[in-house]
Amino acid sequence: MEGKVGFIGFGSMGGVLLRSLLRYGSLIEQEVIVSTRSREKLSGFISKYPGLEVMQSNTELAERCHTVFICVGTNEVKGVIEEINPSLAEDAHLVYISGGLTISNVAKIYDGKISKVIPSLTCGTRNCVILVHHNEKVTEDNSMRLERCLSKIGTVKIIAEDQFEIGADITSCAPAFMAAMMKHFTAAAVKNSVFSEEEALAMVRTTMLGTATLLSKRKIPFDSLIDRVATNGGITGDGVNVLDEKLPAVFDELFAVTLAKNDAVKAGMDEQYGS
Ligand SMILES: NC(=O)c1ccc[n+]([C@@H]2O[C@H](COP(=O)([O-])OP(=O)(O)OC[C@H]3O[C@@H](n4cnc5c(N)ncnc54)[C@H](OP(=O)(O)O)[C@@H]3O)[C@@H](O)[C@H]2O)c1
Repeated sequence: MEGKVGFIGFGSMGGVLLRSLLRYGSLIEQEVIVSTRSREKLSGFISKYPGLEVMQSNTELAERCHTVFICVGTNEVKGVIEEINPSLAEDAHLVYISGGLTISNVAKIYDGKISKVIPSLTCGTRNCVILVHHNEKVTEDNSMRLERCLSKIGTVKIIAEDQFEIGADITSCAPAFMAAMMKHFTAAAVKNSVFSEEEALAMVRTTMLGTATLLSKRKIPFDSLIDRVATNGGITGDGVNVLDEKLPAVFDELFAVTLAKNDAVKAGMDEQYGS
């Protein structure tokens, strides 16, 4: 990317994103500048990347960076943009990662190049889909550079802004949904067996990885995989029937709840950013 690249906020997602971009060669440490509220959280990271600069303030970072990733919590984005705005170069490119925050709201306080990027915790494994939308001020050169950088850690998918809610559910929230499903699956297995939780977990983890490999690397469709395990109905088929009966309603409810929450977050953001 052009010039230095700044990262404001080294929390759960900012940490994974920056670590992944460095680990997989999208960025080199000498071109990165970081600032975050609790600087002590950076100590282990800096010892691994001594060439990386840490700024005492967000404004110092903004003065030195052409591209700035804002990885603070959704409610804190406005304060950070207002703080750094006077220090940013006129053609600076802001990249933010907060799903519930629309570009039109950000544009009310920053009249420049804005990209919305939704990564996932799984970017740390390079198996992630990164959702991206640019505003009209982002040039082709800016978007190409950003997308090239992100494509080294995952699959970049450009989407319309109104598709971020469901898109984020199935890419960015999904690791938590999948972990929650497997947590209940494992707990029920332990309840009905003599396996310890640790033993059951080890079996489930390996089987999940193998299943994901068959589905993604070998591109086996869901139904074909089910048919290959549940031959002639049998025991697996009876289990699959339970899931077929109960899960559609569970997932309809899940999407209803997350979409409602998205609407509430959006309404909160509309209020915060004003008209
Ligand atoms: N977690 C995910 O899987 C995920 C996925 C996609 C998108 N997102 C989005 O990413 C954003 C951040 O989420 P997160 O889970 O990474 O939250 P988080 O763990 O709370 O990280 C936020 C970081 O920003 C720092 N910070 C807060 N205010 C700051 C300021 N004024 N200046 C500098 N640093 C500041 C915080 O400092 P402290 O350490 O002092 O609190 C913290 O390190 C959210 O909008 C979220 O929706 C998250």
